[in-house]
Amino acid sequence: MSGCVVPESEIARQYSIAESVRPMVAGTKACIITFGCQQNEADSERIAGALRLCGYEMTESPDEAKLIIINTCAVREHAEIRALSEAGQFKNRKERERDLKIGLCGCMAQQAHRREQIYKSYPYVDFVFGTDMHHRVPEIIKTMLGAKKRFSFISEKPHGEFGVVSEGMPVLRESGYRAWVSAMYGCDNFCTYCVVPHARGHERSRAKEDVLYEAKSLVESGYKDITLLGQNVNSYKGGCSFAELLDAAASFGGEYRVRFMTSHPKDASSELVDVIAHNPNVAHHFHLPVQSGADRVLKLMNRRYTRAQYVEKAREIKEKIKDVSLTTDIICGFPGETDADFEQTLSLVREIGFDMIFTFIYSPRPGTAAAKMEGQTPRAVSNARFAALSEAENAIAQSINDKYLGKTLRVLSDGMNKNGVYAGRSTQNKIVTFDKPVPAGEFTNVKIITAGGYALSGEVTE
Ligand code: 5AD
Ligand code: SF4
Repeated sequence: MSGCVVPESEIARQYSIAESVRPMVAGTKACIITFGCQQNEADSERIAGALRLCGYEMTESPDEAKLIIINTCAVREHAEIRALSEAGQFKNRKERERDLKIGLCGCMAQQAHRREQIYKSYPYVDFVFGTDMHHRVPEIIKTMLGAKKRFSFISEKPHGEFGVVSEGMPVLRESGYRAWVSAMYGCDNFCTYCVVPHARGHERSRAKEDVLYEAKSLVESGYKDITLLGQNVNSYKGGCSFAELLDAAASFGGEYRVRFMTSHPKDASSELVDVIAHNPNVAHHFHLPVQSGADRVLKLMNRRYTRAQYVEKAREIKEKIKDVSLTTDIICGFPGETDADFEQTLSLVREIGFDMIFTFIYSPRPGTAAAKMEGQTPRAVSNARFAALSEAENAIAQSINDKYLGKTLRVLSDGMNKNGVYAGRSTQNKIVTFDKPVPAGEFTNVKIITAGGYALSGEVTE
């Protein structure tokens, strides 16, 4: 397997540090505020597991916590601003409560210029730690308890080397039936707009035995929906192909679903499509970010596929996987994107027919190649393209969802949602609301009566 695995002796050292700090923190409340992608959500569950090992009691309310950790995202400027304003909210409280501790971690913490900004402008942030430090949370807590000044745990190794794979630390999962399982970390693709390879380092795969052990334990303890995670899972190299890993993770017996996030079009193999088509426990949902429909822009983005290759892959997916939902990410306003380029994106969207599009306005990220490119798109132009794309997609999503009318879908219930409606997810990951209470974490059949672009609604038939 690739990547450096944290030695067992180091994990044992962290367990013993956790034991030594427990008398000091036992019962203290801690809260993690998470921004960004599923990878960050998974990381927060690991941090929570380590904090609990140290004796902390986790709470969802920052108001009652004496330790607040902000897990940040750097993928777009908007996410960074939100995280910083979250940190800003604790300024007054921090002045009043000497024993309140604030930590900041995640992708923003990995970037030197952001650390400098935090150091200068956010003096009440007590400590910062990087994305490859989660297994060292006990040591971070011990340092925090004895610290007279602010400190950071950031890998010293130059970019390209940093990054570890740790096994054996506890995970405190938010849900009792949906779970994240990391298959790999980091990314080697260097799409020119993206901060991820800069922030999270090169690709490291977990050994297939470790991934499968975790997935099997989850299935055995009643988990029904498992998502294999990685920035680019299809370039997994932990002892088998990603398609084989997915197939094995979905073959433990019983009814449950396995999903994956995210796949790069250049690596989305036919073998993977076949596994989704044939293994009944693999969810019929393929999230395949296209980013643009114009070859010229795809090249500037360093995506390493053409529009025609993407269209061909989408055709294969739709042809082989019955009732698949195909979703994508698109960036509008990439530097130099012309009206004609954007028209190509619109025409691709109409040609393929995505179930859902996550549209993002291009945000220049310091340190990335695209941030230095000529012809940054004016905000008003990006906004207009964003609106045009949303309008086109709304009509497409509605017509795709209309095809579910009268059909019966197998739905994994999430119980009652915050609007007081019973809701769950189909294998396509579509939101389905229904008329009768079904306990969260149980499967049920729902006959679809009404369809919107965003969600389906129906009656429980069992
Ligand atoms: N600006 C806008 N969107 C971005 N994404 C990644 N980097 C940027 C950026 N700099 C989007 C891509 C990716 C998704 C997770 O976020 O569409 O697939
Ligand atoms: Fe970013 Fe591209 Fe890697 Fe995805 S594949 S994380 S967009 S660099």
